[in-house]
Amino acid sequence: PETITVQELANRMAERATEVIKQLMKLGVMATINQTIDADTAELVVQELGHTIKRVTAADVEEGILGNQDETDEEQQPRPPVVTIMGHVDHGKTSLLDAIRSADVVRGEAGGITQHIGAYQVNLASGNKITFLDTPGHAAFTEMRLRGATVTDIVVLVVAGDDGIMEQTVEAINHAKASEAPIIVAINKMDKPDANADRVRQELLQHELIVEEMGGDIQTVEVSAKTKMGLDKLEEAIMLQAELLELKANANRAAIGAVIEAKLDKGRGSVATVLVQKGTLNVGDIFVTGSEWGRVRAMTNERGQKLKSAGPSLPVEVLGLNGTPSAGDDFIVVENDAKAREIAAYREQKKKDLAAAAAGRGSLEQMLAKL
Ligand code: GTP
Ligand code: MG
Repeated sequence: PETITVQELANRMAERATEVIKQLMKLGVMATINQTIDADTAELVVQELGHTIKRVTAADVEEGILGNQDETDEEQQPRPPVVTIMGHVDHGKTSLLDAIRSADVVRGEAGGITQHIGAYQVNLASGNKITFLDTPGHAAFTEMRLRGATVTDIVVLVVAGDDGIMEQTVEAINHAKASEAPIIVAINKMDKPDANADRVRQELLQHELIVEEMGGDIQTVEVSAKTKMGLDKLEEAIMLQAELLELKANANRAAIGAVIEAKLDKGRGSVATVLVQKGTLNVGDIFVTGSEWGRVRAMTNERGQKLKSAGPSLPVEVLGLNGTPSAGDDFIVVENDAKAREIAAYREQKKKDLAAAAAGRGSLEQMLAKL
């Protein structure tokens, strides 16, 4: 059943919570400020206090709080593609990413502290930028998708040319298909004498991935992470696919993004890697992520450099969270902390209600089991 907390009901009527509690007492309902009451009881209170009733769905409330931020086409500008690399164990995902990163023209040789963050943007000599998500596994990719986060534009499937398609390659293909992100196949380890790209192309066919050479639309690129052969071709393939997808975002609006990973750091508190998807994120911005909120205290890139702002497709580490969100949580900038609190509290309540409903079902099942 629909429920609402006493506090939330009071907020929506702009009445004091004590006023709502008083009315509830008149109805014979004893409730504290944080308790939930059912929608029918809430309606009686609303009427008693002389307000008009309008039942809204959870989605309405979120939209009402967040505001409708749709943009026109003119405000959309091209944005870099966000790429996830997947493939069988030891087929060279990490080596390939490292090879691509070493081609980053902005990186420099200074080194410094390169802490591992789950996402980074590479600046290529051509002027192209590509964002890579370094998902620790297929499970993480699926988990994020299940939580409603669609962050990957393109999947690069790494297949070792000597091994061919293996168990986790098939898994990766299935995950990629379910996400509906287009797949580019990087046939790696082509420096090895027993590597056979044509065999890989044949094997792909068995999984309904029809490569261009066979009249399909799946691009394959022969590469070697070891000798760095073919990396430019891989970049071209990604940029071509990105062009077909017409990836665009408005940079001139409050930021919306997704949490790629988050952790509790001993020295720095909660730290989240956030991929900005729309708008520009600035230091000082107030945000909600999942049922947590905070103010951006500092932002750094993968090289540990401080940033003042971050535009679409840029992943950044954000400091200033009040709690630790989960991978796949949304990250939304709001006008002020009152709004942030309101949304966070609303989402927290929703979580509790769902948990209570689940527990209720559990006890009913237990009851039935005893019968
Ligand atoms: P997991 O993260 O364990 O799933 O592996 P991975 O897919 O990240 O593979 P990784 O990059 O760790 O490479 C596995 C092994 O293959 C390492 O010993 C690499 O040196 C080797 N390797 C990767 N790419 C190439 C390549 O292009 N040529 C050759 N000869 N070896 C490669
Ligand atoms: Mg690896």
